[in-house]
Amino acid sequence: MTIKGKTKSSLRPAGRPATRRTVARLHVEGALCANRPSELDAAVLTSESQFRELQHRVKNSLAMIVSLIGLEAGYATDAPTRESLERLRGRVGSIAKLYDLLSETQRTQEVDLPGYVDRILATLGSSYGAVKGEVRLELSCPPIALSPKCAAPVGLIINELVTNAIKHGFVDVDPGIISVHIRQEGKSIVITVSDDGCGLPPRFRMDDSCGLGLQIVQMLTAQLGGTIDVVPKPATFHVSFSTAA
Ligand SMILES: Nc1ncnc2c1ncn2[C@@H]1O[C@H](COP(=O)(O)OP(=O)(O)O)[C@@H](O)[C@H]1O
Ligand SMILES: [Mg+2]
Repeated sequence: MTIKGKTKSSLRPAGRPATRRTVARLHVEGALCANRPSELDAAVLTSESQFRELQHRVKNSLAMIVSLIGLEAGYATDAPTRESLERLRGRVGSIAKLYDLLSETQRTQEVDLPGYVDRILATLGSSYGAVKGEVRLELSCPPIALSPKCAAPVGLIINELVTNAIKHGFVDVDPGIISVHIRQEGKSIVITVSDDGCGLPPRFRMDDSCGLGLQIVQMLTAQLGGTIDVVPKPATFHVSFSTAA
């Protein structure tokens, strides 16, 4: 083994054999090492419970922020301000749901993707259902466990695309079906959000037809190192990214 150009044996002065004291010290160190696993286990347990506690506090803080935004929206006197606050509440709410889910399981580092997306859709369905009547939300997703780091942007992306489908997809057409289809191809995940409504506006281009919602989708897809493909009719967004990195 070479350490900065020297071999390991050259670290002991030449011609100096290991003394009995050195050997005894090695025995003591060996005994200490034998005890280490339980010390290590204890340290791991402590840091895990601290991490859980931290996650729990994040969950509570986010829930409080979501409620405060809701209160503020309730006090808004004009519709655009109220709508803007409701959109913000939906966005922060989708991250809050991630922490709700994490706090309900024993796993701190893995998010059950179908369960998470199902919660996002349930909230969107109940908050927009009354406005949009009979729009049906469908989800197909195999069991996939994602890191919280990946799951948070995925949740926000789905929140934006489904909100758009509800808001813009069925203008002047009968309410229909919005589907979220997620599949895994090796290390890649492909999320497809589509609706059978009016389709995207003529000459729609992802680069220049966007409001804040689709800009958020583009920004988060880039953060995941992914790509977006768009089909104008039926309005379909495919977001693909790799979980390998
Ligand atoms: N599913 C859809 N069906 C029809 N039009 C859509 C759909 N999704 C997005 N759009 C169009 O893309 C535009 C930009 O969306 P977005 O960036 O989220 O901004 P916003 O929702 O605030 O208008 C929308 O105004 C709408 O014209
Ligand atoms: Mg939008």
